[in-house]
Amino acid sequence: MDETRASKFPLGAAVTVAELEAEPYAVLARLREHEPVSWLPALDGWLVTRRDLSVDAMRDAETFTVDDPRFTTGAVIGESMLSLDGPEHERHRKAFATHFRPTMVRERFEENLHVVAAELVDGFAADGRAELRTALAGPMAVDTINRFLGLSNVDPALVLEWYVHISDAIVGLTLGNPVPPKGEQAIADIHERVAATLADGSSELLTTLQADEILRPEELPTAVAVVMFGAIETSEGMTANLLWHLLTHPETLQRVLDDRSLLNAAMEESLRLEPAAGVVDRYATRALEFGGAQIAERDKVTVSLLAANRDPAVFPDPDRFDIDRQNLRQHVTFVQGPHGCLGLHLARLETMAAVGAVLEQLPGLQLDAAASSAPLGLIFRKPPAVVATW
Ligand code: HEM
Repeated sequence: MDETRASKFPLGAAVTVAELEAEPYAVLARLREHEPVSWLPALDGWLVTRRDLSVDAMRDAETFTVDDPRFTTGAVIGESMLSLDGPEHERHRKAFATHFRPTMVRERFEENLHVVAAELVDGFAADGRAELRTALAGPMAVDTINRFLGLSNVDPALVLEWYVHISDAIVGLTLGNPVPPKGEQAIADIHERVAATLADGSSELLTTLQADEILRPEELPTAVAVVMFGAIETSEGMTANLLWHLLTHPETLQRVLDDRSLLNAAMEESLRLEPAAGVVDRYATRALEFGGAQIAERDKVTVSLLAANRDPAVFPDPDRFDIDRQNLRQHVTFVQGPHGCLGLHLARLETMAAVGAVLEQLPGLQLDAAASSAPLGLIFRKPPAVVATW
């Protein structure tokens, strides 16, 4: 079966994971043009690269579900909105819906995000040089979600430690290894901290979630873990990618410095060009013909958000960082359909605060190009280093 597929989809058959991680744009453009739904042996699944087909797949959760044992995040963290579809998924989302509303996150967090960002930047402003992903984007991401959840006696360093152990477990499981003890311990610690926080009543969010009774008590720790997990690497990447795009486009950077109201468009255009989560996985619930491919029941179908966002049918000259595009908000970085990112408003506030502080507090900002490198990664996309001087 795979050989037949390989002969029907020769471009897909030749793609390697290394290419998708480091040099994906040309490969994805060829696939989009000739094999918009292609069989990739390297991914052991289909890859969707056209924007319209990607949106169709993401909106049709009856045909393309997330609910499959191969979804390793679910296997490590437990059943949650990320791994459920249908009414149970709706119930899990409903529990959080009000807490992520734009007005709610603005009222509760915006002021504080600016304070935290200013303090972080202050911490290295006198140095004249910093690697902004690890000095700013990462710490800001961990601090934001830690405040949002409000677990008692949990500092950002511990959240980061949990994150690393859980990520390692998920990657290991994808490669067929059992969950290591540190991964199990991190999950157990989160359960213990949620119980302790509920007992001392110190988190407004958790107390409300408990009182609402939309989630059962035993579902709360997993829900907390998923929100935490969904927030950290993604928002770090989102902020780092915007810094990368601004610093590699000095004319645009100058325009944004002269008129801060342009920062929002720059952020959306950066989200389009480099979605911090580059792909999402779905599993076919039935056999179907889709975009010229014969998909079998249970086949894995990966949607390339990166490819969809650079579809020239929607975004002319798609590889250009152009903050004047009229339709730059039509990117699918936060996903369309039932699994659309719940944290998008909080993430946007966070990135605006972080990058705003850089623009405000570091005059004469420039990229140290030799020490920096472009975004990369198959699943999570971010620059390994964004070194700036000022
Ligand atoms: C404060 C930060 C964030 C939080 C709390 C958060 C939370 C979440 C949650 C809870 C979901 C699951 C929704 C569901 O399955 O129904 C989700 C989905 C998603 N989020 Fe976020 N997120 C954050 C930031 C981001 C950022 C910065 C990006 C990318 C730039 C992103 C990309 C995604 C994507 C692609 C999905 C869909 C996953 C899928 O369909 O399989 N998120 N997010």
